[in-house]
Amino acid sequence: MKILVTGCAGFIGSRVSTLLIEQGHEVRGIDNLSDAYDVRMKDWRVENLLTPNSVEWVNGDITDRDSVSSLIENFKPDAVINLAASAGVRQSIDNPWVYYETNVTGTLNLLEACKDAGVSRFLLASTSSVYGKNKMPFSEDAEIDSLLSPYASSKKAAEDLCRLYNYLFDIDVTVFRFFTVYGPSGRPDMSLFRFVRWIVEGEPLQLNGDGTQQRDFTHVDDVARGVVAAVNRSPGYETINLGSDSPVELNAVIDEIESLVGKTADIEHHPFPATDVMATWANISRARELLDWEPRVDLKQGVASVVDWYMENRDWAKEISL
Ligand SMILES: NC(=O)c1ccc[n+]([C@@H]2O[C@H](COP(=O)([O-])OP(=O)(O)OC[C@H]3O[C@@H](n4cnc5c(N)ncnc54)[C@H](O)[C@@H]3O)[C@@H](O)[C@H]2O)c1
Repeated sequence: MKILVTGCAGFIGSRVSTLLIEQGHEVRGIDNLSDAYDVRMKDWRVENLLTPNSVEWVNGDITDRDSVSSLIENFKPDAVINLAASAGVRQSIDNPWVYYETNVTGTLNLLEACKDAGVSRFLLASTSSVYGKNKMPFSEDAEIDSLLSPYASSKKAAEDLCRLYNYLFDIDVTVFRFFTVYGPSGRPDMSLFRFVRWIVEGEPLQLNGDGTQQRDFTHVDDVARGVVAAVNRSPGYETINLGSDSPVELNAVIDEIESLVGKTADIEHHPFPATDVMATWANISRARELLDWEPRVDLKQGVASVVDWYMENRDWAKEISL
């Protein structure tokens, strides 16, 4: 298949793009290398993941309607996977506009271009954050009306647009709700990268709350496999959680890193943010049933993969701005 991946230099986008290439698909990417976090991480992914796998990509912005429509018109993909986003939960309080521009207007531009070019398959990255304080484990058919951040709100709006374009124009849509994705070359604005960096470098580990909050950490290789498994489906409209079904306390993650690195964290506690929930936990029976998907990387292996990556890249990763 010919597949357009937005956000191809991102953490998840770079993995999805390379996996698609490995499976014989023709991939075109778009990414604006936004400076939402240190751009050196994106440069690393381009150099080490996209280039060696010959992923063709353009430096472009999905909020720019004309370039999105000419990209889709010229490439004529069979499917679009929209992973480009402004993605930080807490940061979305500071600049909600960019979240709406990228996540809502960007998605709208892509859907319009798909409609005009006759592209009938669209996959959207949404988030466990849309569940807010729902009853756990979070199931796809839960009401999602207890949002806690502009980020979650922008993703819900993007989901609504997808449902609308499915209804009006028959575009087949899969919405994925990802749960705390982590792995090698992970986002430096997320906990796992930071914890590893702080513990390895002996810097104070900044912890919001008391560390008893739980996250359903999901390895990027599992997430990429789940997304790729859905590209050739014709579901009408569907929503699928990709999580590990195994919530873990942040304190346990810190313990695991400490034992791998052989150092003790110097923890500084901060207030628990209003944008955060105490726990996330995915019901993944739908992914199991529809995609024959199962998470394969357990937390122990996954944390080791992050520590290994960090140690191999320590000379520059220790300089990344957090
Ligand atoms: N990482 C997670 O834990 C997680 C959890 C839930 C959902 N998600 C979603 O998964 C997707 C990928 O997340 P990620 O962790 O890889 O984030 P990421 O920030 O690493 O990747 C997003 C990419 O999109 C690019 N981008 C941003 N704005 C753009 C624009 N206007 N035009 C073109 N490109 C643009 C960025 O440069 C970046 O490379 C996002 O939609 C995110 O909201 C991620």
